[in-house]
Amino acid sequence: MLAIKDLSVGYGDTKVLWDINLEIAPGEIVALIGVNGAGKTTLLKTLMGLLPPWTGSIRYRGQELSRLDTHRIVKLGINLTPQGRLLFTGMSVEENLLMGAYLRRDSEVKHDLKHIYDLFPRLSERKRQRAGTLSGGEQQMCALGRSLMSRPSLLLLDEMSLGLAPIVVEMLLDLVVEIRGQGTTVLLVEQDIEEALLRADRGYVLEGGRMEMSGPSPDLLSNASLRVAYLGLA
Ligand SMILES: Nc1ncnc2c1ncn2[C@@H]1O[C@H](COP(=O)(O)OP(=O)(O)OP(=O)(O)O)[C@@H](O)[C@H]1O
Ligand SMILES: [Mg+2]
Repeated sequence: MLAIKDLSVGYGDTKVLWDINLEIAPGEIVALIGVNGAGKTTLLKTLMGLLPPWTGSIRYRGQELSRLDTHRIVKLGINLTPQGRLLFTGMSVEENLLMGAYLRRDSEVKHDLKHIYDLFPRLSERKRQRAGTLSGGEQQMCALGRSLMSRPSLLLLDEMSLGLAPIVVEMLLDLVVEIRGQGTTVLLVEQDIEEALLRADRGYVLEGGRMEMSGPSPDLLSNASLRVAYLGLA
């Protein structure tokens, strides 16, 4: 579905990602793991057309993405739930959710809004509340709901769990599994590698801008050097 080949990207003169290769098949949950500053968000921004690649290619369902504008990429079915949520804080929950559907011209937006409220009853109770006054967990639900309103085929999730209580993180990640069950492919960026790999089919490990490791989730979970580096376990 997605094939990133020999991708390099940076800011100004500074290269941040070196020769990245990554593939995602339809229906997969793929985890992307890496410490602060590894380049995870930079990779997602490049996928969304927010940063121009220096070298390499990004093919989505056979089509080259690397020269397309962000709105074209969203129309093709890719959507990003950004790190830090980036809600429209002065707008209501429902207005934020509807923003996710702004490129859609079909008649099922209302139906999908109801589906989001079924997934997140909390958002339904708070649909008229200003998004800026939601709790951290509720804001993340709203950001995820806004992405889902674009009906993505490929959903990019950037550190959903940041700053949230473990029980909320588990709820959100379980929902990701449910969303995949409904036909959406997922690239899951997380620093909580255990929670991510327990739900992902495969994972990639980014270190200092280079893809250092990849494999099926069980292999990565039992990998000794990863356990030491990320979980502090010998
Ligand atoms: N707009 C920018 N201009 C210049 N450098 C940037 C910019 N955004 C990110 N960087 C640099 O690129 C590198 C990778 O940053 P990035 O945000 O992709 O990392 P990350 O893996 O998402 O980290 P985190 O887990 O903290 O979100 C860092 O060294 C960062 O300082
Ligand atoms: Mg980041």
